[in-house]
Amino acid sequence: MSYRTHHCGALRLEHVGEEVTLSGWVAKVRLLGSMAFVDLRDRYGITQLSFNEEENPEMLKLAAELGREYVIQVRGTVTERSSKNSQIPTGEIEIKVSELNVLNEAATPPFTIENESDGGDELRMQYRYLDIRRNPVRENLMLRHRLAQEVRRYLSENEFVEVETPVLIKSTPEGARDFVVPSRLNPGQWYALPQSPQTFKQLLMVAGMDRYFQIVKCFRDEDLRADRQPEFTQIDCELSFVEREDILQLFEGMTRHLFRVTKNIELDEFPRMSFADAMKFYGSDKPDIRFDMRFVELKSAEVDKVSGKNFPVFDNAEAVIGIKVDGAASYTRKQIDALTEFVKKPQIGATGMIYFRHESDGNLKSSVDKFYDTESLSAWSAEFKTREGDLVLILAGATDKVRKQLNELRLLVADLQGLRHKNTFAPLWVVDFPLLEWDEDSNRYHAMHHPFTSPLPEDRHKMKSDPASVNANAYDLVINGVEIGGGSIRIHDRVLQQEMFELLGFSAEEAEAQFGFLMNAFKYGAPPHGGIALGFDRLCSLFGGSDSIRDFIAFPKNNNGRDVMIDAPSALTAEQLEILEAGKS
Ligand code: AMO
Repeated sequence: MSYRTHHCGALRLEHVGEEVTLSGWVAKVRLLGSMAFVDLRDRYGITQLSFNEEENPEMLKLAAELGREYVIQVRGTVTERSSKNSQIPTGEIEIKVSELNVLNEAATPPFTIENESDGGDELRMQYRYLDIRRNPVRENLMLRHRLAQEVRRYLSENEFVEVETPVLIKSTPEGARDFVVPSRLNPGQWYALPQSPQTFKQLLMVAGMDRYFQIVKCFRDEDLRADRQPEFTQIDCELSFVEREDILQLFEGMTRHLFRVTKNIELDEFPRMSFADAMKFYGSDKPDIRFDMRFVELKSAEVDKVSGKNFPVFDNAEAVIGIKVDGAASYTRKQIDALTEFVKKPQIGATGMIYFRHESDGNLKSSVDKFYDTESLSAWSAEFKTREGDLVLILAGATDKVRKQLNELRLLVADLQGLRHKNTFAPLWVVDFPLLEWDEDSNRYHAMHHPFTSPLPEDRHKMKSDPASVNANAYDLVINGVEIGGGSIRIHDRVLQQEMFELLGFSAEEAEAQFGFLMNAFKYGAPPHGGIALGFDRLCSLFGGSDSIRDFIAFPKNNNGRDVMIDAPSALTAEQLEILEAGKS
């Protein structure tokens, strides 16, 4: 007999009376004296098997010997259940078992394989193959598959061709550290794993492929967080004969397509914001705009509504910036103290927090009443457009620091106020990033995106005279405060590329050694081109409503970059090391 005629999620009332064969894992055994029920599970669902002493005492005995996660095959008849389970699609039927084969026994699993498991993170990662048997994890992988399929469909329909690029390459300039692999055939020499296929996709444009994409593994040796893995997947794309607008339209279209087909959500046109505005109004280059709470400046290079009242914190500050929290005037002293403690944590680094309440009787009460009278407070209130019941939180200090700190506070308060709904999606294009950022440590400019990003055409003339003020023709796709993707229009002109390398402090020799192959290719007719890469793991976790990309990766690494299941990384044997050093086979 074949292993199965149906999956465990297939049978319904219409199948009653049919003789079927099912195979799967024993999810649960309930022994009730003269009867037994077994839940049989596979990827598709759960089907109840029933055993009855009166009808088949032999079968009941076999059922009683089954352990959790045994792999079994059963034959039997589909019958209507007397007590139905409306929670599962197969809940109206059960299988009266006439034949049972144990295909494989199973050791007791180290945690329960249920939607809410009793296993901790580390244990579930160690036994990830058991974890994946659980519905929520499996569903995440199914979602990932579905999204990958839809990405391929959308891009293929738009003339993109999927091309694989090599994994054993040399350093790519994405700003993280490289993972490296020694070459046995070339002793003392190393490959680097790609931080992205950036240079290859540009070469494919020189090669005339016109529209390239790849769902591709990238490797970056950097500190890990919930949204960062050392190996992760990008939807990597490059297009020829395009301008920024073409790319934004196409990838906005792709994102909307994905929301439409997988979540049945119709998104509005994505708003756009300059990097400068993102920093000024949200203190972040990836603002979460599901909620408003924009920064209001009481003191900055342009305004000053606070100095001259003998309050040194404000008098000495370069910037005084605040946020209005709607309806939060009722926060207790304790709640406000907790916010102050939060901003004073070393990771945030503020020296303190000032606040004022617009109370329900219309009065304005601040934590700096000693220095500021009602008239001043009224002026602030007008700036923030407060209404009765609102609370305003204010930080002071150096502009960049205050913006960063207030961004953290804004996100925390939004969480407290329940403003970051998992099922609300607020996409945003952030555009016009600076081309360069000054690096204090190395005392030179770094490319903010990467060295192949072109300046905005209108800023081109400032490359030599005022490089710091040049904006890049670059863009990021941000959704709900997460950087989902980034890209740029590239430099396709050799002279400009050389200028860029000079600005970045590369000597002609260094540029030649590192990127000579690309510069050389540009001699042979490079078309104007540009592209983008979306973080596929991040996209999946956004769609799946989780903050952690690990939940959407079949076999992820932990925060120390370890795969605890296979125990990697690990030491090499002396013999392996010797071969690498000597270049023997
Ligand atoms: P960028 O470095 O911005 O651009 O990367 C693109 C997107 O990849 C995701 N991402 C990550 N996801 C998980 N773990 C990581 N460690 C990680 N690092 C990045 C982010 C990010 O927005 N070559 C350029 C693209 C281009 O210019 O076309 C690039 O790689 O979602």
